[in-house]
Amino acid sequence: MTESELLVQIPDDVRNLSQDEEFFFVTHEGNRRKIRFHDYGEIYKIPGLYEHLFYERLKCNSPTVISSLLANQVDQTDNTISDLIVLDLGAGNGMVGETLRQQGVKEVVGIDIVPEAAEATKRDRPDVYSSYYVENLCDLPAKVHNELESTPFNCLSCVAALGFGDIPPEAFAQGYNFITDDGWVAFSIKEDFVHAHDESGFAGLIERTVSDGRLDIHVKEPYQHRLAIDGQPLYYMAIVGQKRADIPAHFVF
Ligand SMILES: C[S@@+](CC[C@H](N)C(=O)[O-])C[C@H]1O[C@@H](n2cnc3c(N)ncnc32)[C@H](O)[C@@H]1O
Repeated sequence: MTESELLVQIPDDVRNLSQDEEFFFVTHEGNRRKIRFHDYGEIYKIPGLYEHLFYERLKCNSPTVISSLLANQVDQTDNTISDLIVLDLGAGNGMVGETLRQQGVKEVVGIDIVPEAAEATKRDRPDVYSSYYVENLCDLPAKVHNELESTPFNCLSCVAALGFGDIPPEAFAQGYNFITDDGWVAFSIKEDFVHAHDESGFAGLIERTVSDGRLDIHVKEPYQHRLAIDGQPLYYMAIVGQKRADIPAHFVF
């Protein structure tokens, strides 16, 4: 992308916006407009905008951190990264799938609720995913449910897509339950959502799943996900482990 095609302005006079209120201005093809960070569809529509905003300007690091932690953990077992068939939840424009493929996973299937995510992936990273579904995991058509259930997934990835009106606990549990027992689970989540005061439902869900022996966590560590609009670092928790059993419906509330 060149400056003449796309001009991104991150406002420098706002403080204390929550992550789902952050916004920026973009000038593209002569039009200037305001877009919220969470209007993913609008961002994915403009080639290179997601990469420029989150990766170049705000130093997002999440796909690389999660993919390399996963590879590192798999390496410490008798499993092999090249055997992994990954379901990538909230796959966006394919950046996680791309880093997973660079780590050597066998296959990645993407799912995202926003059609523009699938279109951007097809446009910008056409060879990364073996299939890509535009669906809401909480409300899957029977045909898609059956296809996902009959795919031998042995890894779930979900990067920077949990909470904040994005993927709810119920959808995460559904994705998790598509993975075989002993399969790998690699995800990132805002630190606040795994603390005792969390109201997103994720802290309780993870705690119940782990204490009931359904998920073995191998690594749980904070890392800098990206910069916020005011330049302050935003910390997320990286979690990599192995599934031992499904999450029952009554664990989700
Ligand atoms: C911050 S983006 C992260 C994209 C990608 N994982 C990455 O790290 O580049 C969050 C993604 O989650 C998707 N999403 C939100 N709610 C969803 C849901 N219920 N089911 C599937 N995807 C969802 C959004 O459309 C968006 O593409």
